[in-house]
Amino acid sequence: MKRILLTACVALMWLQANAQDVSVSTALFQRGDDLSWAQPGQDDASWREIDITRNWDKQGLEINDGYGWYRIHVKIPSALLRGADQQKVVVFNLPKADDVDECYLNGKLIGKTGGMPGDKGGYHSAYPVAVKGGGIRWDEDNVIAIRVYNGGEPGGLFDNPLTVTVPSAIDGLSMHFTDVNDGKSHCDIELRNAYPLTASGTLSVTVTDRETGAKVGSLTKKISPAQGRPVRVSVPYDRQKSCLLTATYADAKSGRSISRRLPLKYILTPAAPAAPRFNGAGVFGVRPGSPVIYRFPVSGERPMRFAADNLPAGLTLSESDGVLSGKIDRNCELTFTVTAENAKGRAQQEFTLKVGERMMALTPPMGWNSWNCWALSVSQEKVMSSAQALIDKGLADYGYCYMNIDDGWEAETRNPDGTIAVNGKFPSMKALGDWLHARGLKFGIYSSPGDYTCGGYLGSIDHEQQDAESYNSWGIDYLKYDWCGYGREHAKEKDKGVASYVRPYLLMQKFLREQPRDIFYSLCQYGMAKVWEWGQFVDANSWRTTGDINDTWQSMYDIGFRQQAGLAPYAAPGHWNDPDMLIVGKVGWSSSLRDSRLTPDEQYTHITLWTLLAANMLIGCDIAQMDDFTLNLLCNNEVNAVNQDVLGKQADRVSKEGGIEVWARPLADGSQAIGIFNVGREDITVDIKALVPAVAGSQSVRDLWRQTDLSAGEMKCVIPTHGCKYLKVK
Ligand code: GLA
Repeated sequence: MKRILLTACVALMWLQANAQDVSVSTALFQRGDDLSWAQPGQDDASWREIDITRNWDKQGLEINDGYGWYRIHVKIPSALLRGADQQKVVVFNLPKADDVDECYLNGKLIGKTGGMPGDKGGYHSAYPVAVKGGGIRWDEDNVIAIRVYNGGEPGGLFDNPLTVTVPSAIDGLSMHFTDVNDGKSHCDIELRNAYPLTASGTLSVTVTDRETGAKVGSLTKKISPAQGRPVRVSVPYDRQKSCLLTATYADAKSGRSISRRLPLKYILTPAAPAAPRFNGAGVFGVRPGSPVIYRFPVSGERPMRFAADNLPAGLTLSESDGVLSGKIDRNCELTFTVTAENAKGRAQQEFTLKVGERMMALTPPMGWNSWNCWALSVSQEKVMSSAQALIDKGLADYGYCYMNIDDGWEAETRNPDGTIAVNGKFPSMKALGDWLHARGLKFGIYSSPGDYTCGGYLGSIDHEQQDAESYNSWGIDYLKYDWCGYGREHAKEKDKGVASYVRPYLLMQKFLREQPRDIFYSLCQYGMAKVWEWGQFVDANSWRTTGDINDTWQSMYDIGFRQQAGLAPYAAPGHWNDPDMLIVGKVGWSSSLRDSRLTPDEQYTHITLWTLLAANMLIGCDIAQMDDFTLNLLCNNEVNAVNQDVLGKQADRVSKEGGIEVWARPLADGSQAIGIFNVGREDITVDIKALVPAVAGSQSVRDLWRQTDLSAGEMKCVIPTHGCKYLKVK
């Protein structure tokens, strides 16, 4: 019976092979792994038939953390080449593979996907093979053997049949953009050819102003991208305007074309003046007896000199970089005046230091965390390089000061006395802390109340006191305490009520607060058991309200818009809702980084919303590689002033209609910060006056990104898809 079926199957394949392209949907299959199964002479008579367009799980097979082999017998007719554009290469287009594949033609490896992909959808592989010398047996039986490895269900080949086609040179082409936003902004376009063929045609590029629709740049060029010889074209653009770049390659031979569009980065924040300008909230809190570390955030040309009138006893201010240090032993409120002066001018700020048990984090923390860029590849070197860049690129002049190491710093085992040990990437935590403090920056670390962290490193369970003491001895100023491994402990609890979620956080709180220094306590348990309702009672300074963010609109939208609505009442000076770290700049959660996948408009929306939400502003990218666009997003003093507003009221959604959401936040000076967001897929024209009633009766409407007052004519405007308007209404 099996034989008859198999013959029928091969006959079917032969029938299909007589058509112009070869297309096969069934194969013979064997679970397990044996490289000799790649050989054409291998006896596969006893193998079972399988549909290669459906995962093997759907066909009664369950193979997790294991291999399976597919063998396809197929005749490849020379007629395939007749009338084709070229006769050098054919392509074997495989079904999608979950997770990875390796493909052999008549015993010869013709391609493999490489590593285990993170893409749950599976890889789609297309392997080119030379017409002559590539191993194809023309007009005869060929054996295509595919080895598949699957990590977790579902697994196997799926989605589409295997086809053998003769491509046009354009089929191997792909277009890649790199938007370089530095002093001379340009978009680099690269055309790569995956096939050993040379395409030839014309590349046309246009740049249009998105507000007016006017064409502001164009370029046309004859190009011939070949395998290993990509063509690169650089297109300069004006970054003061929001522009759209469209690149089209028209292939001369096939008459076909490929086209891609990219919204270019654009800068709204005006350049900071050369004269000194104070960019901080003007208030800072500390517990009595804890070291004061506060670097005055002042932009302007360096060198700059700092001085203070009536500086309270116990404090010093460094003249050259404006770092306030010392300590105050009693509860009090101290006000004094700080002056910053450079060659271009001078500025002053009336500054208040509040000293009291619950005076930490009077405004949301600003700084950096290693996770969204380096993840487990973080090292002391990488932390120092971002810290240095924080100062050199001027971010410290806007209040960014925490330098937080996330997961990946612990050794495999504790020291013999039970204290936590660091791994080889961190030669000395104490020295790193001293180095940061000497620059007026602060030092953060990460652990878990469980046995292991999410990344599989040691957690603090049963060592909470020792760990808090180690943190103190290293000069730690911030602890992110991540549930993770504690899930195993929690599973043992009979009563899984709120108290069971509070317990591990309360335990660490006790030991942290016993330390003679302020350690910002950041809870990370993804919002379980409505943490916002009890976070302040474990003396947390912030709590994550959601799962992990990543650099897609979907993730940012879910976390920022959907999951923060209604949480405003829980935020106040001292304790904040934390919708997770920023995803602008070069991120990647690995040692290799990429530009954030958010469009420029989505990045404006991200920063607008996070500042409205009084969120922790922790930069998640490598600061050393930060471009001007990202700097402009993070260093707009009027935008940041909303985040750092001393009233400490978080924004909430006030309306939602069609694709437009309006979020508003009251500010200490009696005005309101308002974000108008287009969360829809199309650009929308809005009438600001009609949308925001407060605008109608207001004295002034400030556009915070541009730092200009809106004129009457600007009340009707287009908000691009996923973009926003950020206003301050008095
Ligand atoms: C969890 C947290 C992340 C990060 C990783 C580290 O996923 O939510 O922010 O700290 O663990 O492993």
